[in-house]
Amino acid sequence: MSESNPNASVEPIGESEHSACCANPTRRALLTALASCACLAAIDPAAADDDEQPGASDRPQKADQLVRAEGDKAGEVIKADDLTLGGPPIRAWPKDPKSAVVRKGSRLNEVVLVKLDPNELDDTTRARAPDGIVCYSVICSHAGCPITAWVKEEQGDKNVFKCLCHNSEYDPRQNAQVVFGPAPRRLAALPLTVADGAITVAAPFVGKVGVQQGG
Ligand code: FES
Repeated sequence: MSESNPNASVEPIGESEHSACCANPTRRALLTALASCACLAAIDPAAADDDEQPGASDRPQKADQLVRAEGDKAGEVIKADDLTLGGPPIRAWPKDPKSAVVRKGSRLNEVVLVKLDPNELDDTTRARAPDGIVCYSVICSHAGCPITAWVKEEQGDKNVFKCLCHNSEYDPRQNAQVVFGPAPRRLAALPLTVADGAITVAAPFVGKVGVQQGG
């Protein structure tokens, strides 16, 4: 079930060194052995001093903004117009608009957004996705690697989120349910709203974040 299609194209999410590394399918076999530790170490930007600020490790809260997690525009507030229908996805951190604290003190707070056709979304997903913008935790429920690829699914024609550690896939149109690989459960969803063009958090995570048992 977890064998990967070697012909599948892989589009990394974001521009981090880690993402580019893990997105190379020709190196996947080698990377798999290293991925769990290497990915966790390389992807965790929670090393800056401001990660110690009050609230930096709190989970996303209602009315939080979302800011880019990487790239030239890292730290910029994400607007609805910044997202292109069908991708690419954008990785983000929640930010308290009152204190200006970015909640990157915990890697469990990082999320990924992508804009999809609302007509493709199931009812549960659509209710959380203004203008078709869906948002999920990047933490894979299998062993905690970050989701790093937006790629054509193994068993269909649509793009899905993929964890390259062990090839689990999640369909963002169906509340990020697992559609391939060993992951035991869906990604946690972060409900959004859009006000005056700005994307904000509508409610805390729905579902468990990370690899907690019992999901
Ligand atoms: S950590 Fe194993 S598939 Fe994601």
